Amino acid sequence: MLIQILMSIAFAIFLYFKVFRKKNSPMQNKFQIIVTTIYEYIFLTKEEDRLEKLKFIHEFSPRYIRLKFWKIDYVIVYDPELLKKVFNSQITCQRPFRNCFQLEKGLLASEYEYWRYSRKHLNIAFNLNVLKGFIPVFSQYTDKVIKEMEDNLDGKEFDLYVPLTRLTVRSSAATILNVHGVEMASYEKMIEAIAVFLEIIFKRMLNPILQIDSLYKFTNLHKREMKAREFAISYGDKLIEAARERKRKEKIEEDAVDENGNAIEKKEKVEYVIDQLVREDDKFTNQEIREHILVLLITASETSNKFVATTLIYLAIHQEIQKKVYQEISEILGDEDEITYEHLSDMKYLEMVLKETLRLLTPVPLTARETLDKFDLGIGRPLEKGAKIVLFNYILHRRRDIWGRDANKFNPENFSPENVSNRDAYAFVPFGLGPRGCIGARFAMISAKVETARLLRAYKFNTTLKESQIKMGLSLTGKLTCDHLVSIEKRS
Ligand code: HEM
Repeated sequence: MLIQILMSIAFAIFLYFKVFRKKNSPMQNKFQIIVTTIYEYIFLTKEEDRLEKLKFIHEFSPRYIRLKFWKIDYVIVYDPELLKKVFNSQITCQRPFRNCFQLEKGLLASEYEYWRYSRKHLNIAFNLNVLKGFIPVFSQYTDKVIKEMEDNLDGKEFDLYVPLTRLTVRSSAATILNVHGVEMASYEKMIEAIAVFLEIIFKRMLNPILQIDSLYKFTNLHKREMKAREFAISYGDKLIEAARERKRKEKIEEDAVDENGNAIEKKEKVEYVIDQLVREDDKFTNQEIREHILVLLITASETSNKFVATTLIYLAIHQEIQKKVYQEISEILGDEDEITYEHLSDMKYLEMVLKETLRLLTPVPLTARETLDKFDLGIGRPLEKGAKIVLFNYILHRRRDIWGRDANKFNPENFSPENVSNRDAYAFVPFGLGPRGCIGARFAMISAKVETARLLRAYKFNTTLKESQIKMGLSLTGKLTCDHLVSIEKRS
């Protein structure tokens, strides 16, 4: 509420000086419409309609909107051509609001030079071979949740978000931290710490006052953050020490020879992210590793759960599409229990379904960049150094001039090879693109494919929800405003 009041006052002052004091300004009418719209948005819009209503920005200005007064220069972009420029330039490879994260080494908030250095080394931890090794891990944790979901076989609807969050939290802990089995219980407190970080980061981003560090330090939020941080540091250090111990053992095994003096052949093993970072000892300190894994855990666990949950909700609403996906999975897997990367590559229709879910309900509806220097976006005066660019996927992905009259409806055919080839490649960017695009894009697609395929093989999903009720809330990582209500039937 406080944020809303402050924003409204600032906006009213701006309009008063910039527009209304200029008598007979031709812009006056247009601005009066904006003022009314913004007033309605801030004070009269229901929570579930907030993100959807922001589409008025596109109706007002088709490609971008620029807010420039005094030293503030913000551009909100939702046009393929402009996004291409942003994604492909090094000048826009910095993120704003860095101090809100208080994780100066993690990928999301680090300064450009350090980000470039660390991203180069972290990319290795997400290469395709590493990700292929994660497939059995994703399968294992999905099967555990499938078993737990047997309690829901009574035909009653339940919130699918709950077991799927459990699933993605466990599989991120396993693949990123190498935490498994009984150790998972100690990870529960880490989940709470992550939730605190996320809540506070979002609050600070929205509130200019909380962005001033010297004031923020005196707030209760800061106290809560410090408590969560203390826990995350000690827990992180324990995990890093365990990874160092594994590395020492690995070294001994590497040097081991059999009775004939020949090197013992090494077994292929999963390359968990934390072990890869510890192995790069000369590249990262403990603090750096801790912050990298924390950012990866936040980004992985807060997106993948929503992605798979909303996909299954859409499939529960569209039974004919669910049937088609199920048939594809059954034909590809046959009686085989193990899913391989080759199986996943063949699941073309499932991929179309997942992409269509990401188009309509991407877990990251908007993201932001900051210019490192003057930058000519081709929209009039070049942006100054330090200008903020908000990349608004949610609007881009629902533009009628790109996606047709039914842009708001779920239709996997939007991703048929023919439709994809007829569309601008920058019209669909749920993971961003370019050097600062999402490092976990392939991780997210692979894990979602494994999890959705296994869940659909085990259960048929039903729901009483209608597509018109499926709306995303406005937050850092978008969540539906309704419960993900489904009932399940065991497949024979
Ligand atoms: C459906 C799931 C996901 C979506 C929709 C998503 C989306 C995004 C988007 C839009 C960005 C900003 C890109 C840009 O500015 O161009 C981003 C950044 C990032 N994502 Fe993801 N993400 C997902 C899953 C993941 C996963 C699973 C991980 C980790 C394993 C991850 C880690 C990150 C990190 C670390 C960044 C910051 C990269 C940087 O600044 O260098 N994301 N993601």
